[in-house]
Amino acid sequence: ADTWRDLESKFPPIKNDLVLRAARGEETPRAPVWVMRQAGRYLPEFLEVRKKHSFFECCQTPELAAKLTLQPIDRYPTLDASIIFCDILVVPQALGMEVLMEPARGPVLPQPLTSPADLARLPDTVDVQKELGYVFDAVTLTRQGLAGRVPLIGFCGAPWTLMAYMCEGGGSKTFERSKSWLYKWPAESKALLTKIADVCADLLVGQVLAGASMLQVFDSWAGELTPHHFQEFALPALVHIARKVRHVLKHLGHDEVPMTLFPRNVHAPSSLALLKPELSGYDTIGLDQGLDAVEARRLVGPELNLQGNFDPVVLYGGREGIEKEVARVCKRFHEAGGGWIANLGHGITPNVKPEDMGWFLECVHKYSVRK
Ligand code: CP3
Repeated sequence: ADTWRDLESKFPPIKNDLVLRAARGEETPRAPVWVMRQAGRYLPEFLEVRKKHSFFECCQTPELAAKLTLQPIDRYPTLDASIIFCDILVVPQALGMEVLMEPARGPVLPQPLTSPADLARLPDTVDVQKELGYVFDAVTLTRQGLAGRVPLIGFCGAPWTLMAYMCEGGGSKTFERSKSWLYKWPAESKALLTKIADVCADLLVGQVLAGASMLQVFDSWAGELTPHHFQEFALPALVHIARKVRHVLKHLGHDEVPMTLFPRNVHAPSSLALLKPELSGYDTIGLDQGLDAVEARRLVGPELNLQGNFDPVVLYGGREGIEKEVARVCKRFHEAGGGWIANLGHGITPNVKPEDMGWFLECVHKYSVRK
């Protein structure tokens, strides 16, 4: 069997590795920049593909996923990273749950987990190569299509965020079904979170072996939990993923892979203090726009790299508004010090004009230069 080194040597070498250097905590001449959901509905070329193919068909067809991943890279030479086109909900699918993507509502899981008895519906273990091999094929195809332009990020959803979808049956405002699991059935909740975390870790390892150079875990609903419940439930599952991924890769003789955690809306100082690399296993924290860079740096310490955190809505601010806000936030990150990867604080939204995204990226290149 090929080792990862054999596979890696078959890919063209990565020319722009700015994002990898920042993710290792090295000082970079300017901040590398990419945007969550950079392949998405604001791009006319994305909408063209979506006219002919359903959302999950796009995820499950490696040629389509690779094509969609490359669309923003082809359009914006200013992007410093690509992220594989996929979705966090492929993990519940791999666990045997049906997931539909409904145009107006977003994701719908018609048979949510309503009580611990439903856990019997989930398999004991998941063969990720069998269930999610299409993700790995998409990663490898994308690496070829990138031709070394920028690194490729692999990702998964965080166990708590996925548990929320699996118990709510879709999005939620109050999270009453998923959060009541934590109050009523804490032990079963932990078992569920661990089961999800194991699939997540295998999915991340598979993406690295297929050609991803760094990883991100999306905990979009982490901020819905009290700091106590974040520490008791969400965090141990996140730590489990980081440990398992690093352990397995090391065992396979693979180099260290940078890992980013995006714990959206987690702002409690006690929670942020627990995300230091030596405690959490993650190198970089993705910040949402609700925290100031200097304040975040004070709370997470000097070692954790920061990613973020422009307000996604700044992209509707017009050229002058965008430039002014990018200059302001860049100053805050320079003052904060340490590693920084520029990004939005959440995904880009569908009505952004592609030329405004382009201008935003140009402004980040200009104002993030280290003086
Ligand atoms: O960032 C990228 O460009 C890579 C692809 C990516 C998608 N989803 C594609 C997508 C990534 C990284 C995600 C992550 C994801 N998916 C998250 C975490 C990040 C976040 O936004 O908080 C979450 C919570 C999901 C679940 C999900 N998928 C929702 C809630 C929705 C519907 C709402 C929406 O924004 O459309 C999706 C659908 C989805 N995932 C789309 C895309 C491009 C749009 C669907 C379509 O084309 O019809």
